[in-house]
Amino acid sequence: MITIEKQYSLLLHNTFRFNVKADTFIEYSSTDDLKQILSDKELISEPYLQIGSGSNLLFTSDYKGTILHSRIHGIEIIENADDYVLVKVGAGVEWDEFVAHCVAQGWAGAENLSLIPGEVGASAVQNIGAYGVEAKDLITQVDTLEIATAKERTFSNAECNYSYRQSIFKSELKNKFIVTYVTYKLNKHAVFNLEYGNIKAELEKYPEISLTTIRQAIIDIRNSKLPDPKIEGNAGSFFMNPIIPRSQFQELQTQFPNIPHYDVDEDRVKVPAGWMIDKCGWKGKTVGHVGVHSQQALVLVNRGGATGDEIVNLSKEIQASVKKLFNIEIHPEVNFIS
Ligand code: EPU
Repeated sequence: MITIEKQYSLLLHNTFRFNVKADTFIEYSSTDDLKQILSDKELISEPYLQIGSGSNLLFTSDYKGTILHSRIHGIEIIENADDYVLVKVGAGVEWDEFVAHCVAQGWAGAENLSLIPGEVGASAVQNIGAYGVEAKDLITQVDTLEIATAKERTFSNAECNYSYRQSIFKSELKNKFIVTYVTYKLNKHAVFNLEYGNIKAELEKYPEISLTTIRQAIIDIRNSKLPDPKIEGNAGSFFMNPIIPRSQFQELQTQFPNIPHYDVDEDRVKVPAGWMIDKCGWKGKTVGHVGVHSQQALVLVNRGGATGDEIVNLSKEIQASVKKLFNIEIHPEVNFIS
């Protein structure tokens, strides 16, 4: 089914909760629907934008174009082997509904990604990640439609060029393909990934370590650090964690011996932007209608009644102070849309 709305409020489609409008808002529930939309040049006049649940978007004004949103649902087993299962999931499925399903079935791999807001289609575009796991570790293939031709194309994991919060769909092929289905490989024999941060400490509350208790532990950690968008609009981590040369990191370490970090490879180190922003004194601050979350400095929040421009201005001030103190450029993870 295809639904088309005009002058449509995006209030419930962006987690910053900005009350901006789209000229046209189209939802579709199958690959065939989307083919039909893409073949009708009058329906989909440029500019256009495919969105998920709007948990990584920053609208700075009304959207003078067409916004597309998938309602392609379904979680289908396509191969059920002794050790693993391959599941094909509709791009419009809520990411956490999929994770909950995996945990309930005893399929391992996605549990560390519990409670990440967003939809399955976006997981393959953004390469979402948390607690030592990234979507790319699970994805085997991504089914898409090419916007220009309405033709189907399947990308293998390797063809998606995944790296930290990056994929071909965010770079060379940005706005060229729309994800319709994502296939994930889950493990029937659980290999837990507990090395990141305080997962182990959180799990001490529970009598055993299982997919269910890991999921609950991750949910509790996230809820304690990240604000609920229903209460305070936000888009999760606002900045990406910068990856810097090891030599630069070693210099910083002499000045800041407790600087947290993750090794990327022999030559590069990832430094938490949240820690640097915190060190610059931003945590918990309010500037006008916007601010920095008090439990996690990587998250910028709408304190109520803010506009996208206020968040943009705050983010620039934060970037400048991190540059001044650490000589490191930090870049938004959130997509700015005008
Ligand atoms: N830290 C501070 N102060 C802060 C925030 C962080 O000192 O205000 C320190 C922490 O103590 C820790 C380090 O910085 O030593 C890293 O913090 P944390 O483990 O909370 O993770 P992060 O690097 O801030 C990343 C992801 C999150 C993901 C967590 C857990 C990015 C941009 N963000 O945050 O993803 O949940 O790791 O894996 O990579 C998201 O993308 O929206 C998101 C929440």
